[in-house]
Amino acid sequence: MRETPIKWVVEDPKRKNVFWPSEEMKKRAWVSDEKIYEEAAKDPVAWWAKLAKEGITWFKEWTETYVWDPPFYKWFVGGKLNICYNAVDRHVKGWRRNKAAIIWEPEPPNEPHRVLTYYDLYREVNKFANVLKSLGIRKGDRVGIYMPMIPEVIIAMLACARIGAVHSVVFSAFSGQSLKDRMLDAEAKLLITADGYYRRGNVINLKANADIGIEGTTIEKVIVVKRLGKEAGLNVNMVEGRDYWWHELMEKAEPYCEPEVLDSEDLHFILYTSGTTGKPKGIEHHVGGYAVQAYWTAKWDFDLHDDDLFWCTADIGWITGHTYNCYGPLMNGATFLIYEGAPDYPAPDRLWQIIEKYGVTVFYTAPTAIRMLMKYGDEWVKKHDLSTLRILGTVGEPINEEAWLWYFNVVGGGRCPIIDTWWQTETGATLINSLPGIGPFIPTVAGRPFPGTRFSILTEDGKPTSIGEGGYLVQLSPFAPGMFRTIYKDPERFRQQYFSVYGEKIYYTGDGAYIYDEMGNIRITGRVDDVMKVAGHRLATAEVENAIAQHPAVVESAVVSVPHDIKGEVPVAFVVLKPGYKPSAELEAELRKTVDRIIGPIARPERIIFVDDLPKTRSGKIMRRILKALLRNQPVGDITTLMNPETVEMLKEKVGYRERGQ
Ligand code: WTA
Repeated sequence: MRETPIKWVVEDPKRKNVFWPSEEMKKRAWVSDEKIYEEAAKDPVAWWAKLAKEGITWFKEWTETYVWDPPFYKWFVGGKLNICYNAVDRHVKGWRRNKAAIIWEPEPPNEPHRVLTYYDLYREVNKFANVLKSLGIRKGDRVGIYMPMIPEVIIAMLACARIGAVHSVVFSAFSGQSLKDRMLDAEAKLLITADGYYRRGNVINLKANADIGIEGTTIEKVIVVKRLGKEAGLNVNMVEGRDYWWHELMEKAEPYCEPEVLDSEDLHFILYTSGTTGKPKGIEHHVGGYAVQAYWTAKWDFDLHDDDLFWCTADIGWITGHTYNCYGPLMNGATFLIYEGAPDYPAPDRLWQIIEKYGVTVFYTAPTAIRMLMKYGDEWVKKHDLSTLRILGTVGEPINEEAWLWYFNVVGGGRCPIIDTWWQTETGATLINSLPGIGPFIPTVAGRPFPGTRFSILTEDGKPTSIGEGGYLVQLSPFAPGMFRTIYKDPERFRQQYFSVYGEKIYYTGDGAYIYDEMGNIRITGRVDDVMKVAGHRLATAEVENAIAQHPAVVESAVVSVPHDIKGEVPVAFVVLKPGYKPSAELEAELRKTVDRIIGPIARPERIIFVDDLPKTRSGKIMRRILKALLRNQPVGDITTLMNPETVEMLKEKVGYRERGQ
């Protein structure tokens, strides 16, 4: 028999599929009073100052809360803190010392899980901080992290934060070449990686990719975690004097490392993300502001209490992993779960099985995962008791109504709010979403801006839009404290990409949106530039084009995204071949392999279409708009500005175009 689970939401008596927190939720939630929005709006800077004091332990208080020199801004200027101290030490000094911090679930179902208490984490982080120091890492040095989802990745990040080193985590499914580009840009001195990991039952040789990634870079030392060991049959190449085993270094490490006293505006980490060009941008997050926003959004969005078990399925290589699989929950002293593997391995109910096994209360994932699991059918979910769930979250791309309702009804049993959080690598933490104790929860609608932040949706000429009118989502000053401060080594690109469309005082997000209702709830419609979200992963079409161009047969290519049932969108490549090369299945396979090698399998084009020519303007710019329309069977629109309008007919034939209504 199962206990009757609590209903955390109630349906609006007048509007179908509009939900509000139930009395039980309001009672439990950290915030349940609508008034906080107004209170915060009165003086956002004072509001954040209050939150900063309450949530974070500072070694020294700041002198100026917010300094704005458009387009640049700073928070808590002169304040001193250490984020690792906030994430670990302060809990170890109190009753949370023996509380579980991290529960790690390996992919192989028979391998035992691991639990690290706050004290375990404290001990490991201190030791590893000393290891980094012993290898010459100092405050401000950049450290690359290229690791699977194992507890050591979190230990590595915290150890960097402890000594003021700057981590740059690279998603482990990115290729060696992608790692290399990022390490070169960051001028990293050291890399932390692992021998390998499991993915869908396969052994992935991560160290081999890491070896490609460090060639020709400034990396002098490599620390390798033995995740798999000999049983997995991996042949790990260790270079004498350069490569060290993590466990061997840890054996000799001193147990305590004094946390570095950092400035609020010291660089905390760099995370590379895709912009509209082929070159990823190093997004800079600074210590103080990031700490404050990571702390409060984790606490309020997911309503984290000491008895919760939070599970965010994002990989650590993305911003969601940084903020909600490391800093946010840890600074709150929460218990959270990380899982190494694929969501449908060994069977499509793996996630539901994990939720049941550990009694997860708050579950945060991406629409693409929801759609994939929905396809497998309800029976996989129904096999498991998910009654411990209290809150469900989504992130990364717009969620369609069908997926929202399935998540709500089947996974959440119609009992749990869905917190649809809009944010970006640039924003560091969530910014637009309903709060569990306040609501409302409406399919496809993210909600209102986090208290103390200001957004607007503008027309092309910069006028505010009215309800229901589509426009461009922008953020207004004071910018949220967790916002990035600049692009690493490229402040000009920062200005150009984010503060030129509407001037230096308005942050341009690159997303389309509209105001949904009188309350000011916002619906996000998706990117308006050449950034794609492929299965929730952020990629630029130009990056895929650059990768394809590496193949000797290719003259040029154009990559556009098309909608996809599960992945949200996928890249499709139009490729022009050099004379002497003929389209073939082999060549197609080779091009896919090239993309795997240069970026990684996530960027692999869904379809490759060989063409003789691409539609271009007279100045030679490829008209991607036309390619998009052709693939979506939409009207191609005006083609009179094309240099080569005849290509359109040829392309129609190649893609099997059928204009809607025909
Ligand atoms: C999209 C991920 C709709 C958006 C945290 C944004 C969303 C981009 C949502 C950033 C959401 C993120 N609803 N769209 N709830 N959340 N996005 O940098 O297009 O990987 O600009 O950060 O994801 O992707 P990034």
